[in-house]
Formats: sequence, structure tokens, C-alpha cells
Amino acid sequence: MTYRNPPTTPRKSATFDDYTLSEIRRAAATGIYDIRGGGAKRKLPHFDDLLVLGASISRYPLEGYRERCDTGVVLGSRHAKKPIELKIPITIAGMSFGSLSGPAKEALGRGATLSGTSTTTGDGGMTEEERGHSKTLVYQYLPSRYGMNPRDLRRADAIEIVIGQGAKPGGGGMLLGQKISDRVAEMRTLPKGIDQRSASRHPDWTGPDDLEIKILELREITDWEKPIYVKVGGARPYYDTALAVKSGADVVVIDGMQGGTAATQEVFIENVGQPTLACIRPAVQALQDLGMHRKVQLIISGGIRNGADVAKALALGVDAVSIGTAALVALGDNDPRWEADYNALGTTAGAYDDWHEGRDPAGITTQDPELMKRLDPIAAGRRLANYLKVMTLEAQTIARACGKNSLHNLEPEDLVALTIEAAAMAGVPLAGTNWIPGKNGF
Ligand SMILES: Cc1cc2nc3c(=O)[nH]c(=O)nc-3n(C[C@H](O)[C@H](O)[C@H](O)COP(=O)(O)O)c2cc1C
Repeated sequence: MTYRNPPTTPRKSATFDDYTLSEIRRAAATGIYDIRGGGAKRKLPHFDDLLVLGASISRYPLEGYRERCDTGVVLGSRHAKKPIELKIPITIAGMSFGSLSGPAKEALGRGATLSGTSTTTGDGGMTEEERGHSKTLVYQYLPSRYGMNPRDLRRADAIEIVIGQGAKPGGGGMLLGQKISDRVAEMRTLPKGIDQRSASRHPDWTGPDDLEIKILELREITDWEKPIYVKVGGARPYYDTALAVKSGADVVVIDGMQGGTAATQEVFIENVGQPTLACIRPAVQALQDLGMHRKVQLIISGGIRNGADVAKALALGVDAVSIGTAALVALGDNDPRWEADYNALGTTAGAYDDWHEGRDPAGITTQDPELMKRLDPIAAGRRLANYLKVMTLEAQTIARACGKNSLHNLEPEDLVALTIEAAAMAGVPLAGTNWIPGKNGF
């Protein structure tokens, strides 16, 4: 006689969950790894795991509507003759032309300019749309060198040497053939319609000593006018920050593993790098150890969504944050009004799984002329400016409640953590205790 369990609710495995099973089946059926856009989707320690304390008997709050709370920031004052002056400490991160359409680049420029902040080029070079509509434009100098030329270096307001991205530290970029239009191919001097895999490392230098020479070269080309940023993926933030400073960087940009990408292997996005929250304290510590905190500015990116994230990042010692995914959403990306079109692509609005495919129903991550028409760059730029305004007001509200007349006066003392992990990573006490796990080390 066969023994049968009495009927119970069927239980699925936490290890072999539905997504894992579907991925095994997909791999078995196709023999290729999955490529997607977006950042890490797994739950990671993040700014939600921190809380702001606000004023109490020992702290005196400022009045929300009457008392000033400064938001401006100067980037690149270490060596550059013309540092960047921004009205808000939120910048638009580098997103390649190719991954984004020309009108999307224009919209980013418009929104950033209305808000008094900068936008950034990306792999594939500088477009007239973004130069023309961005008051302050940072030019990325990437391993691929696609579209790179000295003329555009001089037309930029700052230069960002990209060593890595949070979504793929150590990995190169990808742009699938569907997105290589005539224009993209021409700018990259590569064939149309063929998948492009950008280099993962710079062709002409291998380490910090060479980086120093490269930075000097870029300064000479631009007459020592432009700030030089160095961007790294969140891998070894203490040493990367120290080495970037030693190499002469004016600004260090660290992109944590929640940071978005246009296209990368899923296994890479979810398994390589450190969460944004875990990168901040070591980077700030490196700057403090070198006596360079606030002299070399620190920008953090990867999963920044609202004014609370901004306030918490600044309280931990960063000078500014940068946004990619949230800026695209503000423009109109992954909007539920296009749900039927997303479904037709085999995804859903909010999953950000379509960025690499070039069929973006919102007309943002595409080179398709018909889809591109769906984005009105003027209206989209206004939406981005509205969003940046709300983020700034939110951060100011929090700062005033902590008694700070500048966002940059927020400090670790204003924060507690909800979990032991976040307390250890951020270097702030666990809520309800005065315990900072791992203090004196990281
Ligand atoms: C569509 C898209 C394209 C991107 N292209 C580039 C690029 O060309 N160069 C680069 O350094 N980073 C690139 N990134 C990463 C962003 O610069 C930034 O590090 C990241 O988006 C920040 O995280 P967030 O998206 O969570 O805000 C891209 C990101 C997205 C979403």
C-alpha cells in the first residue's frame, strides 16, 4: 500500500522559488544567460533601514516655512579653475545615448537646467540635444571611448572618468543590436544592428599611477578649468576613494549595487558589488583619513528615490547624490498607462526589464522613431523638474526638523538604524541603543 501524506497546503521552497524555477527553465530552453536593465531587485540594506531623529529638548528645530535651509553645493573646488555650482545636491547620472533616445536626453537636460543641477553624458558620446539643453553637462570618459573626442571634452563643464558602475563593477557595457540605429552606429563608429559590448577597463592605463597621468592629461586638454570626477562601482569604497583622491580627482562618485544600468547580465546585477548604504561610510572615512572630506566632494548613487534618501545620504557625509532610474520614471518611463504594451513585450510596467530591448513603450529607452515620438521632451523635462523640486523640499523639511540651516549640516548624529546590518554599515546606533556594531572598523 502506498503511503500518502494527509492533505496539507502545498509548500513552495524558499530556495527554489517561482522566479528561480522559471530562470532554470528559461536557461535550459535557450542556452543563453539573461540580460536586463535596472539595478539589483533583491532586498538589500538601504536608506529605508535608517530613521532621522528630528529635534528634541537638546536640539532646536527651524520653522518650515520661514527659516532658510540651504541646498546648494559646489563640486570640484580642489583643482578646477571653474568648479560646478549647483542649486541642489541631486544630479542626473550618466546614461548613454543609445540606451536612451535623443528626446529623452533633451528632457533630462531641460529638467536638470530648470532645477539648477547638472546632467551627464554616457557611453556613446555627447549629443547636441543634451549639450544644447543642459546648462551644466558632465562628460563621461569611458573605457569604450565610443564617441569620445577632445572637442566635446572642452565643450563639457566637468569630466567624469568612469571606472565602473554599481550594477556591474568590473563589467563592461552592453547595447543590443536592436538599439544600434544609423545615428548610434555613426557616433560609436561601429556597425549598425550588431550587439555592442563595451570594454570593461580603460585601454591605456592599468592602475592608480597611470590614472594620475590620465587625469593630468585631461586637465591639460581642458586648461585646468573643468572638475575631474572619478566614478567607481561600489566594490572597495575605502581604497577606491583613497586611490581616486591620490590620483588627483576633484570629485569621487560611488555607485552602489542598486544602481541602474541599461543592460547587463542578471547574474551580475544581483551578485556583484556592495549595497549603496554599505559604500558611504568607508568612502567618507577614506576622505576623513586623508584630511579631504568636503575638499574632494563625494557623490553617491544607486537607488536614490526621495528627499529622505537625500537627507540620509547627506547626513552620512556625502556632498551630493545622483539619480538615474528615478529620473527616467519622472520622465514617464514604466508608466502603467502603457501596461498593455509592456505586457506585449512579456513584462509589466514597473519591472524595468525592457530597457535593453529597444521597444520601450514610453519612448525613452529606444531608438525607434515611432516610439520616440511618444515622449514630449518639454513636458517630460517639466515632470523631472517637479520631481527634483519635491525631493529637495522633502530633504529640507527633514533638515529643518533637525535644526539645520543647510542640508549639508545634517550629520550621522541625526540618524539611527532599524537593523543591526544597517547600523554596522552606516556607522550609526541601532534604534533604542547607543550601540554601533563594528565601530572602529568596517
Ligand atoms: C538606462 C541607463 C543607462 C546608463 N548608462 C550609463 C552610462 O553610459 N555610463 C555610466 O557610467 N553609467 C550608466 N548608467 C548608470 C547610471 O549612471 C547610475 O550610476 C545609476 O543609474 C544610478 O542608480 P539609480 O538608477 O538607482 O539611480 C546607466 C543607467 C541607466 C538606468
